[in-house]
Amino acid sequence: MLRIGVLGSGKGSNFRAIADAIGRGGLDAEVRVVISDVASAGILELARVRGLRAEFVEPGRFKTKLEPEAERRVVEILQSAGAEWVVLAGYMRMIKPPLLEAFPRRIVNIHPSLLPAFPGLEAWRQALAAGVAETGCTVHYVDAGMDTGEVIAQRAVPVLPGDTAETLHARIQVAEHALYPEVLAGLAAAAD
Ligand code: GRF
Repeated sequence: MLRIGVLGSGKGSNFRAIADAIGRGGLDAEVRVVISDVASAGILELARVRGLRAEFVEPGRFKTKLEPEAERRVVEILQSAGAEWVVLAGYMRMIKPPLLEAFPRRIVNIHPSLLPAFPGLEAWRQALAAGVAETGCTVHYVDAGMDTGEVIAQRAVPVLPGDTAETLHARIQVAEHALYPEVLAGLAAAAD
């Protein structure tokens, strides 16, 4: 059984896929808390309607990382909630030592490209601009770099003629919603 804390900044469709997989019995995990750096993020609302603990942490003055004090608060919340793994699901900030050191090799992320291709923001847009025939998504361990941690699993997605950034991102997200729960189920099985 994987006890997870989920961090997200956005609409939370990956969180929903994970919570649904748990609900169906396809993933032996428990969401102990959902934390966001955005007070109005859809992911917090999705957690609340499921009766899960949902916490907003004021991020502080930086755009790309949390203020160290805020990151320590995140660690405190995760630990008090009994989370053993940290699942990043559309979390838009870099992870720094307070969190990395509290959960060594226990933080995973999903990224919308076949890493190491197209790290960083709006990877689907980067793929489209590069003219590749195939992109996809990657679940990886998180380290101090941007989308540089060890790859756990990937799923390829074709780029189709006439694709826009939106249609391509939507197709990648369908793959993400299948891949992320599958990878977590694998981690849960390995943790037993
Ligand atoms: C996903 O495309 C994910 O790969 C990226 O951010 C997006 C999050 O979407 N890291 P959602 O909030 O899970 O809907």
